[in-house]
Amino acid sequence: MPVAKISPSMLSCDFANLACEAKRMSKNGADWLHLDVMDGHFVPNLTMGAPIISAIRPHTEAYFDCHMMVSNPSQWVNDIAKAGGQMYTFHIEATQDPIGLIKQIHEAGMQAGVAIKPGTPIEAVVGEVAELCDMILVMTVEPGFGGQRFMAQCMPKVEALRRMYPKLDIEVDGGLSLETIDASADAGANVIVAGTGIFKAEKPDEVIAVFKEKVNKAQQTKFAA
Ligand code: DX5
Ligand code: ZN
Repeated sequence: MPVAKISPSMLSCDFANLACEAKRMSKNGADWLHLDVMDGHFVPNLTMGAPIISAIRPHTEAYFDCHMMVSNPSQWVNDIAKAGGQMYTFHIEATQDPIGLIKQIHEAGMQAGVAIKPGTPIEAVVGEVAELCDMILVMTVEPGFGGQRFMAQCMPKVEALRRMYPKLDIEVDGGLSLETIDASADAGANVIVAGTGIFKAEKPDEVIAVFKEKVNKAQQTKFAA
């Protein structure tokens, strides 16, 4: 049964203090750190790339969950692997050869995640892609910016994927907070990304603990085989 993994999105942290912010999240109970790489082309925003990820790497032992919002995902696989990335999640909309890309990511020593935007149906990943990848990310906002409103209409996609792939890590990203965690947990998501919802909270440790508890409870009661 998939267990809860909470992945604070560093997009909402204090960028002038990346190392401290990474450590702060681990102390607050985060399992993973979500690193949003944007190229200004696949999405209308620029953030960080391999040099920044590699600069944070020595300061934390957290698992690096890299969300690649880039037009040419195969271009950055080796750089992100060298920088210390561990999950390399590419967008299905950005590649013609997802199977080749998953193999390339695995050969580089990383796990492979596949993301779908709110308008992309699950059929884009069901089958060989879902069977070969290590995680599916169902976006719950249009990728590009933090602080957007959670799109509950994406939940049927999460639930359908969870029923099809009971053991797979299924991640949700965008607008996750104490108000929206129930919908995500009940649909079967087990990897929870939150930027604003965690970094801007008064007590991030409590938010992370609630996320974990709700996800694990839903997995045990609703989805246990
Ligand atoms: C948006 C990014 C998210 C973002 C989420 O494109 O993929 O990871 O940081 O931010 P919140 O949790 O504030 O919606
Ligand atoms: Zn993200």
